[in-house]
Amino acid sequence: MSTDRPKIILDCDPGLDDAMAILVAVQHTDLLGITSVSGNAPLSATTRNALLVSQIADTDVEVHAGADRPLIIEPKHAAHVHGEGGLNGPTVPPLHRSPTSNDAVQFIVDTVRATDDVWLVPIGPLTNIALAFRQAPDIVAKVAGISLMGGSTGGGNVQPVAEFNIWADPHAAQIVFGSGAERIVMAGLNLTHQYTVDRDLAVRLAGIGTAVGTFAGEVIEACVEFSERMRGASTSPLHDPCAVLAVTHPQHFGSVKRHVDVSVSDITAGMTVVDERGYDDANANVEVLYEVDRDATIEVFVESVAAFS
Ligand code: BDR
Ligand code: CA
Repeated sequence: MSTDRPKIILDCDPGLDDAMAILVAVQHTDLLGITSVSGNAPLSATTRNALLVSQIADTDVEVHAGADRPLIIEPKHAAHVHGEGGLNGPTVPPLHRSPTSNDAVQFIVDTVRATDDVWLVPIGPLTNIALAFRQAPDIVAKVAGISLMGGSTGGGNVQPVAEFNIWADPHAAQIVFGSGAERIVMAGLNLTHQYTVDRDLAVRLAGIGTAVGTFAGEVIEACVEFSERMRGASTSPLHDPCAVLAVTHPQHFGSVKRHVDVSVSDITAGMTVVDERGYDDANANVEVLYEVDRDATIEVFVESVAAFS
């Protein structure tokens, strides 16, 4: 693998869109490891799905199982989107792999301490990252950055003002957003809703004619079906690849640095409060992504899928 690729740890809860983010990460990053977390489905399912995707992609990347519950609140899952098993829709083969460890937090800490310029790319609830920062505060200054999918500058999805990943563990999100990390890049719903996929794309991916192409086509089909059912829309946002692409192809994104904090209270729990007033720059802690060149980055996604033999 070429050394000019960004080194990342992909922290995920697959998850249909997480599975697509894994494919992009395999092709465009120096993927140091995949860590799983309770989120879209319970930890046993998200770990299994991470292993399945790495098996389908035929990559030997390590998978480490992480937190099986949020820091304080009870676990919340998204079976209505991804199915009880977290990967509802695509046909998957029998699993022949097992996790390298059941201590994702220790893996993150050890890897960041031992390696310069590691990007943490969390695309599920932020539990593992918060636990790693709590256990080893020294790694906060050591990471290249955190590029996360979560939050929103406006409305939410699972709640009127909360996006799923932040809502599912708001206390962890509060720790990460308040960590003081030099670079925190946020791909929130305001961004990912511009990154849309449709049935034509599903057909195009299936037409690649490989196992990975078929899998990706079925995943996109499942995403579009869900959007049709829930919103009557013929397109679906594909959230999680955006957090990977923001690191690998930053030229296709536009951001503004803002002060962002997370609510942990009552009806607004899980809300990312983004200060867009423009005169609080001293406290700006997050590069909030506002723009993506959708067509260019969809091509990167398609080419990533096509690059698997
Ligand atoms: C986020 O929630 C999950 O359901 C998706 O995988 C994505 O990470 C979108 O709100
Ligand atoms: Ca996810």
